[in-house]
Amino acid sequence: MNPGLQAWKACVLTRLDHGRGLASRRKCILGNILIFMVVVLSLYAEALTMKRGFFICIEGLDKCGKTTQSRLLVKNLSSRGYDAIYTSEPTDGRIGRFIREYILKRKKRVSATVEALLFAADRAEHTEAFIKPNLEKGKIIVSDRYVFSSIAYQGAAGVNPEWIWQINRAAIKPDLAIYIDVPVDVIISRCEDKRSVMERRETQKAVRKVYLRLVRSGDLTLVNGNRTIEEISKEIEKMVLERLESRNI
Ligand SMILES: Nc1ncnc2c1ncn2[C@@H]1O[C@H](COP(=O)(O)OP(=O)(O)O)[C@@H](O)[C@H]1O
Ligand SMILES: [Mg+2]
Repeated sequence: MNPGLQAWKACVLTRLDHGRGLASRRKCILGNILIFMVVVLSLYAEALTMKRGFFICIEGLDKCGKTTQSRLLVKNLSSRGYDAIYTSEPTDGRIGRFIREYILKRKKRVSATVEALLFAADRAEHTEAFIKPNLEKGKIIVSDRYVFSSIAYQGAAGVNPEWIWQINRAAIKPDLAIYIDVPVDVIISRCEDKRSVMERRETQKAVRKVYLRLVRSGDLTLVNGNRTIEEISKEIEKMVLERLESRNI
């Protein structure tokens, strides 16, 4: 028999010998219940006071107003006392900068499979180095584009969406994913002076179709982007505040 068990048995037997076995066993059980209750209560208190972050992403076609609205949202949340931060994809990291040079600034589009892989690599780094640690600190993160951009742009170019989800497994599911919907004609008129490789009418039409499919499946929440900047920002702010309140953030 193990020595600890032996000592315990000896102790119990001695107590029994002295006629106090039952009383001390009762005390022991009460003590254990008390310790258990203290542990449960402290875990509950920790859960109540634990900081919880909130992850929002803003999606849509080029020039639909993502950057305008993401920055406004961070500004509005900050002025209400929330610890909100802006981030965007492609990132300013080395992979993000490479994406701008290699994919976005050239005249002819590279293979959509290569695009999907590079964006997924940039996103994996973005998620691990920025999004996760900031959510753990309890911040509200507003990301100007996230995984749905890959599904929409590379999916519209013929890449299998299932595969895109798979290579983006490192991505975190946003608490709220907003899609700013703007008709393609409006987008094209906003892109007149400076067009990137993605800004062709046919490309935008196909991408919008995928985005609208993601709205129908419930992955994205649609906001009508064909209104003034203030109207859109008020709606987004209201939507976000409701979610934050319902989560006690
Ligand atoms: N609701 C809007 N109505 C009219 N112009 C807008 C609206 N939202 C943004 N813009 C303008 O469209 C251009 C692209 O906006 P931006 O926020 O940079 O779009 P994105 O980040 O989606 O490419 C900017 O010149 C911006 O001022
Ligand atoms: Mg932008």
